[in-house]
Amino acid sequence: MKMNFSKNITIWYKNNYRKFPWRKTKNPYYVLVSEFMLQQTKASQVVKYYLNFIQEFPNLEKLAEAEEKEVLKKWEGLGYYTRARNLHLFAKRLKKNQGFFFPSKYKDLIKYKGIGPYTGAAVASICFDEVVPAMDGNAYRVFARYLGIYKDITSMVTKNIFSILILKMMDKKNPGVFNQSIMDLGSTLCTPKRAKCLLCPVKNSCFSFKNGTVYELPVKNIKKKSIKNRFFYYIFLCDSNKNFGIHKRSDQDIWKGLYDFPLIVSEKSLTILEIRDKIWKKFKVYSEKIIYQVNHRITNQTLFIHFLNGKIISKRYLDKLFFIPNEKICDYPFPRPITLFLKNEKMI
Ligand code: ADE
Repeated sequence: MKMNFSKNITIWYKNNYRKFPWRKTKNPYYVLVSEFMLQQTKASQVVKYYLNFIQEFPNLEKLAEAEEKEVLKKWEGLGYYTRARNLHLFAKRLKKNQGFFFPSKYKDLIKYKGIGPYTGAAVASICFDEVVPAMDGNAYRVFARYLGIYKDITSMVTKNIFSILILKMMDKKNPGVFNQSIMDLGSTLCTPKRAKCLLCPVKNSCFSFKNGTVYELPVKNIKKKSIKNRFFYYIFLCDSNKNFGIHKRSDQDIWKGLYDFPLIVSEKSLTILEIRDKIWKKFKVYSEKIIYQVNHRITNQTLFIHFLNGKIISKRYLDKLFFIPNEKICDYPFPRPITLFLKNEKMI
């Protein structure tokens, strides 16, 4: 029965695959862009970004020549901006090292920052027909259920066991199609809840379907990461010509490479007097009142973001700040809460 696994799912895939634009090509650059975007974002959300990105940077050369700010601008709103910086770095490395020769082997691909085992396997199999399983959460769920594996899928030992088993089950002629079939099976039928087992092309040989244990698997022993609250107080400095002060985020915190306003960060909520006092001490700016508030959730943090208006007394303490006119806003990538604020202020 198991021998038919790859045959059954690839036939099913041919009739049912999700028609994403990155599936129309084997161009490794396009596929890599899509896989970077898909690392932490749902496919339906990626489509628009993918099309915009490849239109702006149609090949590695164009991406390598671009400024970081332009690359981040095309990523604006997608989150996890390190992905964009790593993709840019990849293009620049290829330009420097080998005249844009695209690495075609899994073992070479995973040497680059931002290309992990999953992305490396997806690109190597889809574009270069390398027989290597692309294992993400979806794939572990599908195979744990199908094979009846009750081991913790977050442990390295289990991952290695999976890799060996799945390598044997793979379609050696069409590894890219095989990997993408598993992605689609996991996303559309073999879902965490309300799985559509009756439509599954491999139900007759599935351990969990036969035993009625679909929702027992996969086993995942992860400790829930605690969510940290942080309080951000931004000072919006705007002159009479509607030029406003921004600065580039460059520290190791979130949103590196994006632009925002002078900022006070606190682990606890501050009173308006405390905020004003801190703003004065750090920036020598008189702040008035909170003019906008928004909460923003990122992986393991909730940000309670406040915007205050302020008056500059001296620019001495705002050395990294520069003023941009309204019509230049579109050149700069901003984190989502800043974009929301600017929209609210009718600046964009
Ligand atoms: N998730 C990760 N890679 C994917 C792909 N190539 N197609 C659809 N979803 C994916």
